[in-house]
Amino acid sequence: MTANTKRLHMITWGCQMNVYDSGRMADVLAPLGYAPTEAPEGADMIILNTCHIRDRAAEKVFSELGRLRLLKQARVAAGGKMVLAVAGCVAQAEGAEILARAPYVDIVLGPQTYHRLPEMVARASRAAGAVIETDFPAEDKFDFLPDATAASGPTAFLTIQEGCDKFCSFCVVPYTRGAEQSRPQAAVLAEARRLVDQGAREITLLGQNVNGWHGAGADGAPSTLGRLIAALAANPNLLRIRYTTSHPRDMDDSLIAAHRDIPQLMPFLHLPVQSGSDRILAAMNRKHTADDYLRIIGNLRAARPDIALSSDFIVGHPGETEADFQATMRLIEAVGFAQAYSFKYSPRPGTPAAGAGQQVDEAAKDRRLQELQALLRSQQAAFNAACAGQTVPVLFTGPGRHPGQLSGRSPWLQPVHAAGSESLIGTVAPVQIVSGNPNSLTATLIPHPMEQERTQA
Ligand code: SAH
Ligand code: SF4
Ligand code: F3S
Repeated sequence: MTANTKRLHMITWGCQMNVYDSGRMADVLAPLGYAPTEAPEGADMIILNTCHIRDRAAEKVFSELGRLRLLKQARVAAGGKMVLAVAGCVAQAEGAEILARAPYVDIVLGPQTYHRLPEMVARASRAAGAVIETDFPAEDKFDFLPDATAASGPTAFLTIQEGCDKFCSFCVVPYTRGAEQSRPQAAVLAEARRLVDQGAREITLLGQNVNGWHGAGADGAPSTLGRLIAALAANPNLLRIRYTTSHPRDMDDSLIAAHRDIPQLMPFLHLPVQSGSDRILAAMNRKHTADDYLRIIGNLRAARPDIALSSDFIVGHPGETEADFQATMRLIEAVGFAQAYSFKYSPRPGTPAAGAGQQVDEAAKDRRLQELQALLRSQQAAFNAACAGQTVPVLFTGPGRHPGQLSGRSPWLQPVHAAGSESLIGTVAPVQIVSGNPNSLTATLIPHPMEQERTQA
């Protein structure tokens, strides 16, 4: 093992999988002597881990590159060196464009090539030109990546599935992440065990279509996410399990039953629906209707009455009329979401919807988004307010903003703040919710029974 003498700075945009991937890139570079640093100044290597999902996400990459160019020039002028790499979904989608617009970039690498990063770094330091790796290699990167190192705290991400075969009309992910692939159960259980041994108490299983997971089970045959969660729940030190992101079409009975049968599976589900209009859902190639979605929610609530729902919405997909938009508003009213994300449709190069007719004008998109977000905000505020007075188990994840304060999360993924001792970090303890704020809960710890006895005595 080389001493950690080189500094690695990473900037991560996009979804939770990118956060996980940045950790894995750091793992693969550690044996080369790279140790993470918070500051870009003085870094020997900088990796931008990028997102291509909407226009603005990609623009940020180019403006950041402009800033880093100056930093690299200054370092080279001082006789030093800096390797500048662009990873993630913009790298995959626009590799050649990046090198044309930013020729000072040394390495461009797509999400399926991270295991090859050490070799690319070696090539970049030898070669005069840039190194670009955006193929989808035949080998599985997970077979070549080193074991994930230290978990960063009580909560951790674990990628179990990657890629997407759904090809929604608007979305770049099938092109940037490639075809759906599931990791075998044995690999997932081993990684979960390591994370738990390093202190993780809550694991969020990740995948672009995580509930489409069909990795090899214990017997080697394709399994289901419901069964994988049951196998994970056998680890007594893993207190909480979550999974994201799911597609309504893959919400099968075994997974719904897991919400009823497995107490470690948290009563919260992010299930993107995108639109409440069947016409637009068809145009989006979602292959489910608004009623299908409502039926799934009904089944989930029957299985786990306290389950809270989250979703993603797009307003202004090509062809969306005012009536279609109103259908989305009605679906939101019918479900009642604990929280949700919503976006204006953003045309992505190479996707079917970008070339479609009937693009919706910006002003209509703006107005619809505002109306929809106002409704979602009021639902979230109502959901949080209804928690006041309840006793809730909270996983404490770290110190809060103020001295003596802790932050944690509720079963429904709400941030919780309570005064308490740092020794509680990494444990689940009951609290009483004092107030439900728009984006968080304020709580007081319920005294431990021993302490209660003492105070009563
Ligand atoms: N794998 C996830 C989605 C990843 S993208 C899933 O299938 O749910 C996260 C969200 O971004 C999507 O659910 C969608 O609401 C939004 N999104 C994707 N492409 C978009 C586009 N072109 N314009 C606006 N929003 C988009
Ligand atoms: Fe994109 Fe649709 Fe696949 Fe989700 S299911 S990643 S929105 S193509
Ligand atoms: Fe963005 Fe790629 Fe994730 S486009 S949302 S980083 S899969």
